[in-house]
Amino acid sequence: MPKTSNKINSFILFGVLGDLSLRKLIPAWYYLEKDNLLDDSLKILGVGRQELSDSDIELKVKDALNTFVSSEYLESEIVSRLSRRFSYCKCDLSKADSYKDLSLKLIDWTKPMAYYLAISPGLFETVCDGLKGSNLITPDCRIVVEKPIGYDLDTSQEINEKLTRHFDESQIYRIDHYLGKETVQNLVTLRFANSLFSSQWNCKGIDYVEITAAESVGIEDRWGYFDGMGQLRDMVQSHLLQLLCLIAMEPPNRLDDQSIRSEKVKVLEALKPLDQGSISSNFVSAQYTDGEIDGEKKPGYTNEVGAKSDSETETFVAIKAEIQNWRWSGVPFYLRTGKRLASKTTQIVVHFKSDGHYAFDESKESLRGNILIISLHPTEGISLKVFTKPHGVNQHSTIRSDPMSLDFIKTQKLLNIPSGYQSLLMDILNGNQSLFLCREEVELAWKWCDEALDAFNDTNQELYYYKSGSNGPVESERLVLSDGHSWYEE
Ligand code: BG6
Repeated sequence: MPKTSNKINSFILFGVLGDLSLRKLIPAWYYLEKDNLLDDSLKILGVGRQELSDSDIELKVKDALNTFVSSEYLESEIVSRLSRRFSYCKCDLSKADSYKDLSLKLIDWTKPMAYYLAISPGLFETVCDGLKGSNLITPDCRIVVEKPIGYDLDTSQEINEKLTRHFDESQIYRIDHYLGKETVQNLVTLRFANSLFSSQWNCKGIDYVEITAAESVGIEDRWGYFDGMGQLRDMVQSHLLQLLCLIAMEPPNRLDDQSIRSEKVKVLEALKPLDQGSISSNFVSAQYTDGEIDGEKKPGYTNEVGAKSDSETETFVAIKAEIQNWRWSGVPFYLRTGKRLASKTTQIVVHFKSDGHYAFDESKESLRGNILIISLHPTEGISLKVFTKPHGVNQHSTIRSDPMSLDFIKTQKLLNIPSGYQSLLMDILNGNQSLFLCREEVELAWKWCDEALDAFNDTNQELYYYKSGSNGPVESERLVLSDGHSWYEE
């Protein structure tokens, strides 16, 4: 079996001029450079369709940094150091000759290489074949692919088959950038290094869990891609289900990739399918209409540039998920995500069960349990709501809820919220797969989403609408209210 534990210093970025590279990957390389985490010998080859020279790509890198890194963090010396690592190869990925040019360009580069495919999944097979044909696939090279791996279970299996034809599973790095986020990694530490939580982390201690990824951006110029996907495939299939896995998994024996992945697989296997009988009460699907965010008018989904006016693609979903195992029996996991909502908020909220503080006044507060808020955006941190006595001579039997908060940005003196890609890029170079998805996880997640979508379509469920700038459709409130719960709002 190929070994991938050795360090890589030759990084080939397919799609270097694409949105993902310019917005996320090049800025992530910048922060790594700034933190002196990159080896002097690291070289990055950008592959794209345009005719560019090596000095042109250096300029493109500088432009991307000027656009996507806030000026307060930009230092010209670091920008130059990073851009000098880049060189360029023009490739028409569908033509075999292009791979000859690529291998010539790479002739003196240190092996093994990491190939990062920031390109359409439709090209994965062609690129793999091209690399193979030019002898660029070596036993310890690595291939990195972005979500979405497919459009449904069948297409994801096809992609995985193609990848495994050329690469061993230990060489394949399937990215979900949420797993690179610091707070997401911190979930494992929070759960398994604090006995206070680990003893309560089950259906006896927890009432319900919310996972929210609300975005204020709309679809804008990604309409063509998004309309074929929808919010369930775009956000739930990987990001939200990965968060759910980390919240719900059993303690792994070790912190290595095999142990963590196999615990996540067990959670996905235990997810209760949403079928024709349960879909209407457990699934809300909606689309944004014209509205306003921060005083600015925003078009509805079907009024965006390039949109089809009759599209019924969902831009919002709220789901009640259940995990059928000993630990989580009867605990709802509510997932909610949508575009063009009032603000960008990404958080996990764990509601602990109440003891019933009957010695205290029976206010709304006294009947609630403690709440743990794990925040990924707008800040990265953890806050536990605890009950205290309000100051005052005649306040003996009332209680109030106050946060005990950890703000990682402040406590760890971070400059900004890392995008998640810094950590993932380092793991690719170092050969650590624990933050990457294995094939089984991807396919089980697709299976669950496919079943939900089939049940939704087969029973002609209604698509609801919500105003841009709102908190989503009222039906999403009803979904949780029907269990006597409510979404946590600060
Ligand atoms: C991507 C989705 O994977 O994640 C986008 O395709 C979404 O639609 C983005 O906007 C959200 O990522 P983040 O890190 O901004 O929450």
